[in-house]
Amino acid sequence: MTSKMTVAVLTGTAVLALASAVLAADVAAQIKARHDFFHEIGHAMKSSAEEVKGGAPSITNLQKYAAAIDSLAPKISTLFPAGSGPESGLKTGAKAEIWTKSAEFSQDAKDFVTAAHNYALAAKSGDINATKAALMATGKTCKTCHEAFRAEEH
Ligand code: HEC
Repeated sequence: MTSKMTVAVLTGTAVLALASAVLAADVAAQIKARHDFFHEIGHAMKSSAEEVKGGAPSITNLQKYAAAIDSLAPKISTLFPAGSGPESGLKTGAKAEIWTKSAEFSQDAKDFVTAAHNYALAAKSGDINATKAALMATGKTCKTCHEAFRAEEH
């Protein structure tokens, strides 16, 4: 091998290594965005549940939490790009089935977006019982998707 070729091969290897490092950083950022999203949603759901558990729930607080969930929810469709599952080797609770059963996953995501919107509408109406029911219905959509598509341990 001439030294010129060696340099070319070495440069090629370095470029490849750099490219995969950039890809790994991208995937890590995608997974982080997903975790941040679910943390925010989880926080607003937990606050909602605590609010209705108390004797006199504040509809103003519930409106605030519901609006937060409703405005975040549609982003879910952008948070599972191909390559950001367990095959990335990074820490994620996203199961491979998200991509192999994508129609089912999309339906679960859609049901969640609809339920979140209904929760916001119910809260806006000021009807506390309808708001509680819509909150419960939203919680069910989290559970449905988690049971099918989220790993228990990761
Ligand atoms: C369509 C599917 C789907 C729906 C709907 C859904 N989730 Fe998740 N959720 C996931 C998946 C998949 C993960 C794992 C993401 C990861 O680790 O990359 C997750 C992770 C989480 C996490 C943990 C985040 C972390 O940092 O590990 C929380 C909290 C969470 N979800 C809360 C909720 C709540 C609350 C709802 C409903 C209001 C909800 N999710 C609705 C699929 C869903």
